[in-house]
Order: sequence, then structure tokens, then C-alpha cells
Amino acid sequence: MKIMEIEGGKELSGTIRISGAKNATVALIPAAILTDEEATICNIPEITDTDALCDILNELNVNVKRASESIIINPKNMQNIEIKEEFSKKLRASYYFMGALLGKYKKAVMYFPGGCSIGARPIDLHLKGFEALGATVKSDKNKYIVEAKELHGANIYLDIASVGATINIMLAAVKAKGKTIIDNAAKEPEIVNVATFLNNMGAKITGAGTSTIKIEGVDYLHQCFHEVIPDRIEAGTYIIIGALCGNPLKIDNIIPEHLDSLLSKLEEMGVDLEIGQDYVLVSNQNNKKATSIKTAVYPGFPTDLQQPFAVLQTQCNGKSKATETIWENRFMHIPYLRDLGADIVVKNQTATIIGPTPLIGTSVVATDLRAGAAMVAAALIATGKTTITNVEHILRGYENIVEKLTNVGAKISIKEI
Ligand code: UD1
Repeated sequence: MKIMEIEGGKELSGTIRISGAKNATVALIPAAILTDEEATICNIPEITDTDALCDILNELNVNVKRASESIIINPKNMQNIEIKEEFSKKLRASYYFMGALLGKYKKAVMYFPGGCSIGARPIDLHLKGFEALGATVKSDKNKYIVEAKELHGANIYLDIASVGATINIMLAAVKAKGKTIIDNAAKEPEIVNVATFLNNMGAKITGAGTSTIKIEGVDYLHQCFHEVIPDRIEAGTYIIIGALCGNPLKIDNIIPEHLDSLLSKLEEMGVDLEIGQDYVLVSNQNNKKATSIKTAVYPGFPTDLQQPFAVLQTQCNGKSKATETIWENRFMHIPYLRDLGADIVVKNQTATIIGPTPLIGTSVVATDLRAGAAMVAAALIATGKTTITNVEHILRGYENIVEKLTNVGAKISIKEI
């Protein structure tokens, strides 16, 4: 088991370079099997979610070459075999293999994916989409068999603008016969990145980034070269850390427009920001104004930043609120923030946070990936030492977190115990 130790109270200054987006990467890797040729993807983050997807590729006899921050995927000798539970359960996004295998072979057999326990996380919209394209879905306990004689275009309305369902349906539809229209599609930048990748391979997708995506099926996808967009959630986490203890901290290699909702909330709080073309410079200031947020689908305030943002809210003057509208179980970080000294009450789906409160180091748990990021942010400003367990969650999504924070002056380490 790994634990993280952080000696808090240090000012952080320097530059943190942001890695490729986890939530794009986890879809791009399965998407690469849709061609029979070589796909080269660069700016791949070195996180354990990437490793877990490469393990699945290896199982499927796909040739994978990894170099620093890039990956070459060649599915020429691929075999469409069942994806075992020990592989699928490592991350939620293993479900993108369902859409990709269905699109390529008209058949996918795999187990219900795992991932962070932040809510029920059903996949009914994915499966309904596959059915609309002509597939039948059989499930036996948590094993799913999705197959079709032929996939055909369809008009699909998503009851919820789900990121996963939008991408998975796109993956299944790119090689279907005829035209598919996804209405009420999710608009996250990662979806645009995946659509661009597929178009680079010869797919015909328009409208990605809007709520209507149109896909004209093609017979063949070819080799391509692609770059992963910067991770807006990793960037947002470090910007929040900069607002807590930066002096100043530069968050580099980002697309600031992807972070508009966070940046405007920080401005409302009174945080001093310099927003460049591909960076944000941020410092800690006293007298931050209490500021409330409500999570929403993109371009609203990202649910994935709600947890680290709560740490910043504990340092504001007065009463802030955080309302979670996407996931029903995304307040598991709150008891641990309270243990550190925060004054927070959760009622229904809203956390009310009174600040500012000093935080004092203690032992806490990273209950999920972004709760873990919140623990790191809190530990960096807490006096004394904080020990974080279940660090594996954090390593699923933050590349080289210890090195990145050490380089800007943090006292942080990971130990195997
Ligand atoms: C993705 C992100 C995750 C982020 C979330 C919302 C990845 C790998 N993960 O997760 O970090 O928190 O978007 O921005 O990209 N839902 C259904 N039925 C479905 C699918 C979803 O009811 O078939 C519900 C979910 O329970 C949730 C909401 O829709 O309440 C949004 O989920 P979705 O956008 O699908 O999230 P993910 O793609 O799993």
C-alpha cells in the first residue's frame, strides 16, 4: 500500500507543466483499435489509467509501443476476445472498449466497468444507444454481450448529456451504415478531441462540441497521428493550489478557455490571475470572498473540480456553498476536510462551508480520485504533517504529482508501506 506524506505551510512558486487529458486519453486508446493500421498518439499522460488500458490492449493482442508521453498502437493482429473483469474493473473508462469493439467487430464481450465510487454510474444510455444502432445487449450478472448483424445509423436522443454515452455511441457509429445523429450530446472538450482523432483516421463526424453530433458511417479508417489536449482538470487542480499557496505559481501548457467557469469563479473570489494564451499565473491572497458554485455539464463548473475547490472555499471569508448536480456521492472528502479543521455541513446535495478556518495536518483518506486531489490541496496549506492513504486513486489521474509539486517547493513524498 502506498501513502503520501505532505509537510504543509510552504509557499509554492515556479511552473507546473500540465499533462495530456486523462479523460481524452482513456477514450482515444480504445478508439485506436477502430483502424487496422498504426495510430500514434502523443501527449499521453503517464498515469495508471493509461497502464490499465494498455493491459487491455495487450490482452487483445494489439501491438503497443510506449515512449515518453507517446504511444503507437497497431491492432493489425488483434483478437476480439472477452475482456475479463480483472482488467475492466480497474477503471470506469474501460467501457469505451464496448463501443470500439462493437464498431469494429459488431461484437463486444466484457464486464461492467469499475472506477471511482462517486455515484451509481449506470451505463443504460450507452446500451440504449448501441441498441438504436441495431445491436442486442445481453447481460449476465455484470457480464455484457453486445452484438449486431449489422450496425446502422440512427437518431439518438440522450436523456442526460453523458460524456461516456456520447463518446461510446460515436465509437460504435463511425463504421455503421448510414447517418447517426446524437442529440443532447455532451459538449466537453475531450469529446471534440476524440472526434478529431476519429476524423483524422477518416471518420465523418461533425458538430462535436455542440449538442448535436452527426456521424456519417465510413467503411474504413486509416493510420493517423494525434495529440491529446491538455488536462483541464489537472490544470484546474493546480490553479486552485496556486490560489491557496502560490507565490506565484504558473500553470503552463493549458487551454485557458477550457477553464472559463473556474477562472471566473476565482475572479469573483478576488484571486489575482494573469491569464495568458497557454498559461495562468496565480498567487495566494488574503481576504478571499466567499463564493458559491453549482456543478454542471460543460461549459458549467466541472464536477471534477468541486472537491478541490472546496478547500479554497474553506479559506474564504464567510459562507460559501457547493452544490453537486452530476454525481450523488461526491462529498466523501468532506469528513476528512472536517478532520483537518474545516467547518462544513452537507445537506442534500449542497455543502455549506464557513471560512476561513486554519487547517491542521492529520491522517486522511483519498476516497476517490478528485477527493484525493482535495486532500493534497488541503495538506499543502495545513500546518504540520498530513498522511494520505489510498493514494492509488490519485495516481490514476495525476501524472508525476510528487515531482511536479516538489519542483515548485512542496514537501511531499510517497512511501510504500
Ligand atoms: C465523465 C468523466 C468524469 C466526470 C463526468 C462528468 C471520464 C472518463 N470521466 O464520466 O470524470 O465526472 O464525465 O463530467 O471522462 N448517466 C446515466 N446513464 C448513463 C450514463 C450516465 O444515468 O448511461 C448519468 C450518471 O450517473 C451521471 C451523469 O449521467 O449522473 C453524467 O455521467 P457521464 O457524463 O456519463 O459521466 P462519465 O462519462 O462516467
